[in-house]
Amino acid sequence: AQAQQTVKIGLILPMTGPFAGAIGRQIEAAAKLYMAQNGASVAGKTIELIIKDDTGTPDVTRRIAQELLVNDKVSFLAGFGLTPLAFAVAPLATQSKTPQIVMAAGTSSITEQSPFIVRTSFTLPQVTIGIADWASKNGIKKAMTLVADYGPGLDAEKAFKERLTAAGGEITGEIRIPLRNPDFSPFLQRVTDAKPDALFVFVPSGLGVQFMKQFVERGLDKSGIRLIATGDVTDDESLDSMGDVTLGLVTTHHYSAAHPSPENKAFVEAFRKAANVRPNFMAMGGWDGMHLIYQALKKTNGDTDGTKLVEAMKGMSWVSPRGPISIDPKTRDIIQNVYVRKVEKVNGELYNVEFATFEAVPDPVKAAK
Ligand code: DHB
Repeated sequence: AQAQQTVKIGLILPMTGPFAGAIGRQIEAAAKLYMAQNGASVAGKTIELIIKDDTGTPDVTRRIAQELLVNDKVSFLAGFGLTPLAFAVAPLATQSKTPQIVMAAGTSSITEQSPFIVRTSFTLPQVTIGIADWASKNGIKKAMTLVADYGPGLDAEKAFKERLTAAGGEITGEIRIPLRNPDFSPFLQRVTDAKPDALFVFVPSGLGVQFMKQFVERGLDKSGIRLIATGDVTDDESLDSMGDVTLGLVTTHHYSAAHPSPENKAFVEAFRKAANVRPNFMAMGGWDGMHLIYQALKKTNGDTDGTKLVEAMKGMSWVSPRGPISIDPKTRDIIQNVYVRKVEKVNGELYNVEFATFEAVPDPVKAAK
């Protein structure tokens, strides 16, 4: 018999550095699990996954993407754990007409950097407007914002401000903290002094542990100032290690390991068995990114022409462990449910327990254009 042709997927992830645990290893485990469950063959082609460490830096990411395209002749570039890494590769995706599957990064404008970008993660405005609505409905009038000072943080800050002020609320202070080696303490003192009704926070997954630690050290848990956040802060990878101080914390996000569906139950169980940790929203983006690649190849009958693959992805919909999702054919961005959740103890472990749903939310920034 003739050997099957191989289709290669270059999966570029932060496998070392501060984002390895919360992003790199989660996505790696999810991609491998997807292949173990669905087989390494689609439409008569053998699928090969090539995983590379981007060290979390744009220059390395760009060089690796170039090597994967030229030397390995990959048909897909995937991963992109942080916004600057997705931006660094966009021109290469356009030049080479290679689908760039963004499984993690969340700045709204990423999908506008190349017509070959398709996203299976989320956007910060998409998940932030829900918590702003929840805040206005729950008596929060004056709020401060504290965000990581780069793309997704600025997106979250803007979305929260616009939504809260449109409902009659007020932003009494905006704090931006560096992404690398952040020290929250001096900023938290400013919040204590200003005494807003609430503090809204976005930090990328992996940084929530240190934020919560300093939040408690500064006594903000006893200040009467309500903490609200996107689910990046209560990331499933580290939530249980943050301790009972997180009990009752309300966040909005697109995925919780506690999402009550049969699809998610099966996913969480298999992931835990394979990776020995709970899957977080990064794993979810990786899993659905692989599904998108497999389904697109099925639709093109194994044809790896990049333009045909992206066309096949537009408008695709499926039931993910996170809930029903689809790829907006106009923006190539994900449309998905956003859930309001509260940290609770389930069988002795801390989880984000969903209690309300905004259905089929698009990226609101691009939807308004
Ligand atoms: C991004 C990274 C994260 O870890 C996260 O939780 C949200 C956004 C980003 O860089 O886009």
